[in-house]
Amino acid sequence: MILGADGYIGWPLSMKMANQYGEVVAVDNYVTRKLVADVGGISAMPIGKDLKKRSESFEKEFHKKIEVVEGDLRNPNFVEALIRKYKPETIIHLAQQRSAPYSQVTAQHALYTETNNVASNLNILFAMKKHKPNAHLLKMGTMGEYGTPNLRIEEGFMEVEYMGRRDKIMVPRMGGSWYHLSKIFDSYNVAYANRIWGIRATDVMQGVVYGNRTEEMVNEDLLTRLDIDSVWGTVINKYCAQLIANGKLLIYGKGLMTRGFLSLQDSINALTILTEKPAAEGEYRVVNQLDKIYNTVELAEKVKKIGEELGFKAEMEPVEDPRVEAQQHFYEIVHEKLPALGFSPKHNVDGQIRDIINDLDKYRKVWIRKKAVIAPSVYWKSGDNRSASKKLKWLERYTAKGYTGDHALGEKEEQTIMAQESTAGRSDGQ
Ligand SMILES: NC(=O)c1ccc[n+]([C@@H]2O[C@H](COP(=O)([O-])OP(=O)(O)OC[C@H]3O[C@@H](n4cnc5c(N)ncnc54)[C@H](O)[C@@H]3O)[C@@H](O)[C@H]2O)c1
Repeated sequence: MILGADGYIGWPLSMKMANQYGEVVAVDNYVTRKLVADVGGISAMPIGKDLKKRSESFEKEFHKKIEVVEGDLRNPNFVEALIRKYKPETIIHLAQQRSAPYSQVTAQHALYTETNNVASNLNILFAMKKHKPNAHLLKMGTMGEYGTPNLRIEEGFMEVEYMGRRDKIMVPRMGGSWYHLSKIFDSYNVAYANRIWGIRATDVMQGVVYGNRTEEMVNEDLLTRLDIDSVWGTVINKYCAQLIANGKLLIYGKGLMTRGFLSLQDSINALTILTEKPAAEGEYRVVNQLDKIYNTVELAEKVKKIGEELGFKAEMEPVEDPRVEAQQHFYEIVHEKLPALGFSPKHNVDGQIRDIINDLDKYRKVWIRKKAVIAPSVYWKSGDNRSASKKLKWLERYTAKGYTGDHALGEKEEQTIMAQESTAGRSDGQ
């Protein structure tokens, strides 16, 4: 079962898993489409109207079925019904609000991010406990949970000695946005569910993902979403769009911020390996999932060089860093568990950059009219970011009625919101 199957990673993963195992249930509420539209963005590659359409196109091509369920994981009744009905062996949970900048826009955005992510994750844990306690939960976290400590980042746990006593503790997590904090809560909640109920789980601390192509994308109907705006895009994908839009690669601050990266293909291969080689019964396993470490200037240089080979002009343009983050720091990450299970990354950053640039050029008509959203619009420190968010109505209604005060979101209201979401998702094709 893949939760968040309409997303950037979820859709290619659903295709790969359906090809490999033949049985996939794909779940989503299309909220990413809506929230990207909220900041004026759009997927730079065209994507199918909804999961049903995407799954039909996939079946036509590969003669394998992806079963689609549309619904909102914030709703505990929906999640319970889902797990009760399908009793999945593996639940791959990708369904979250995953933009750090979006979580920083206003208090409502922070509240939406944390409630969406934490509530959905808790609903899954409780539904597993009740209806499929021996399933394997593959929960997608992020390397960003750790922040940038001045210590080597172990894979989940570390031995410490303090005032003469020793213990094994979870690696401290000092994430740098309300989004990252929601993922930290999730990790603690999964680890706790493991302690009290023995839930078998793999918590994946994933690096930043780049790239847009996987094997199954053999025709246009099977493409995945590709975000290139400053709120939803990841750094390499954004540089490639900046190259084509006006040749100015925006370097935040000193550009020496260092992170772990991996390609979309490698992310999917790693998740496939972790599905095939699950955590042991009763185990809470943490893996650091990345290929290589780069700083942001190094990556801009790569995009510039490859862009120039392809005939584009590029220059670096330093801009104020909209985030609050260490500009220069120590960064060392242990990542041994995945290689020990057989994961061997393709180290194909140059090839992927070439593919992204070629596709962005090919589909420039889809996104170029939106190129203004490439410029940063959300600033962590000043916090005055309302202009970044265009259509707050849905978010306002949801957060105001749902999670302020102590009353819970009513079932009827939830169903209405879900119906509105799926209509909006279908009508704008995004
Ligand atoms: N893309 C990256 O670089 C990256 C890096 C590290 C970790 N991650 C994590 O990987 C996961 C997937 O990321 P992605 O880039 O594919 O994001 P995405 O936004 O493209 O996909 C997430 C999907 O989940 C769905 N979703 C969100 N809330 C939902 C809810 N309440 N009910 C049902 N569906 C819901 C969205 O509609 C979307 O289709 C996320 O958990 C993200 O935090 C991503």
